[in-house]
Amino acid sequence: MSKNSNKINQDDNLILLTSDVNNIDLNYLTKEEVKYASQVIKESKKETVVFDRLGRLVFVQIIKDEKEDYKRMEKCRKAGDILAGKLNDLKAKSVVVVDVDGKGQETLAVVEGMALGSYQFLKYKSDKKEKENSLLSVGTISKVLKDEQIDRMNIITDSVIRCRDLVNEPVSHLSATDLSNVFQKLGEEAGIKVEVLNKNKIEALKMGGLLAVNQGSVDPPTFTIMEWKPEKPVNKKPVILVGKGVVFDTGGLNLKTGNYLDGMKCDMAGAATMASAIYAIARLGLPIHVIGLMPATDNRMDAKSIAPGDVITMHDGSTVEVLNTDAEGRLILADALSYAKKYKPELVFTAATLTGGASRAIGKYGIVAMEKSATKDMGLLKESGNIVYERIAEFPFWDEYGELIKSDVADINNIGGIDAGMITAGKFLAHFTDYPFIHLDIAGPAYIDKKDSYRTAGGTGYGVRLLVEFLEKKINLSLSKTRS
Ligand code: BES
Ligand code: ZN
Ligand code: ZN
Repeated sequence: MSKNSNKINQDDNLILLTSDVNNIDLNYLTKEEVKYASQVIKESKKETVVFDRLGRLVFVQIIKDEKEDYKRMEKCRKAGDILAGKLNDLKAKSVVVVDVDGKGQETLAVVEGMALGSYQFLKYKSDKKEKENSLLSVGTISKVLKDEQIDRMNIITDSVIRCRDLVNEPVSHLSATDLSNVFQKLGEEAGIKVEVLNKNKIEALKMGGLLAVNQGSVDPPTFTIMEWKPEKPVNKKPVILVGKGVVFDTGGLNLKTGNYLDGMKCDMAGAATMASAIYAIARLGLPIHVIGLMPATDNRMDAKSIAPGDVITMHDGSTVEVLNTDAEGRLILADALSYAKKYKPELVFTAATLTGGASRAIGKYGIVAMEKSATKDMGLLKESGNIVYERIAEFPFWDEYGELIKSDVADINNIGGIDAGMITAGKFLAHFTDYPFIHLDIAGPAYIDKKDSYRTAGGTGYGVRLLVEFLEKKINLSLSKTRS
């Protein structure tokens, strides 16, 4: 939705971005307007001043200094969201953001906040035409921004939006098969190889975790494999992104009660995040070999559902005592994690709305993460998390937590007791890995009740921007190593 140019029309709506009103070129504002704006800003401590010139809107947006760059960037995104809201309220169709100080990154962040904050999910509204936001195009004028930077931002925001659309889709319109069909379409669009394993294939592969969760469903499970393998990847062994694709989580026989069922259509957010991240990587043409594994099913209550105490045999042959059918995400992810071994991966991520505990621990403000044999990558992930403001809260992953999922009956239990539930869930997953592993529990931020600035209500697409940033950083590190 955004383009860079150096032309401006007399009737364009404008946003003049600067740290100081006095920096604004007098082509944009008259001397009197500059004086007026600086007075308003000083007296009212406002950071936005708007001039309405017979319907042409000129916003002055002050970006104040912050000690840390990443915090300033987040302020810019938030300012972008507010500006987009005002423009939509005023029924503006287009706007040009002027980078007065030559600060490209900040300008990009404002535009990013505008694009993400204007997101709407109107698919099922009969009056969507009336409800649709008016703002359709955002241009930029900057001496420093390159077209590639704008293109990158457009691809990433578009991928986040794809992710949100999927998460917002109710199970009435998104079975596991529907989800894998969307993944296939994303793949076709971006040149990613996609293979969808059907129930027969899943049975042949003895994916006992995925099949057990699917037992209570009238719809078959799917297992989607997306592979982006560019011509000259920087990595010899792939990075694998595994996402939880529970299209609806009733809890199964351990039925969720009351409002715990609310929003459980979001339980495939991990799968949507991973597929959207790969989609972004492919559209950006990043030179890194990445594979996505997305097991999908709903988790329902039925006569055929798994019962607490059932013992199941997983894809890797281990046995699991299912003590709680609501701890289903780890069962389907475990099969994907053991399937991942055949690729001899360099690094594997999981993204999952896995535990209510993760959400209770840190809320919607970040991602609960754990790592096994991936300390360096965890460091890089935390840096990336700050930059995109999808922050990482690393939790301990001590061996002792592994003791908590030992079973008297089978090899392991699928729950670990009342304490540290998000960690025992991670330990359960780690049982199925033999490679460097990072687990992301996105139960807190993936789906929110109310709009939180540019993170709109419903699916947020959390994790997409994080993983793209991380993989780009990893590519740059490896390119700089080969150069030196
Ligand atoms: N999908 C839920 C976790 C969840 C909760 C996601 C809230 C998003 C918002 C998961 O399958 C689940 O039910 N986890 C249980 C595990 C427990 C039975 C060990 C939980 O966290 O309560
Ligand atoms: Zn559950
Ligand atoms: Zn779940």
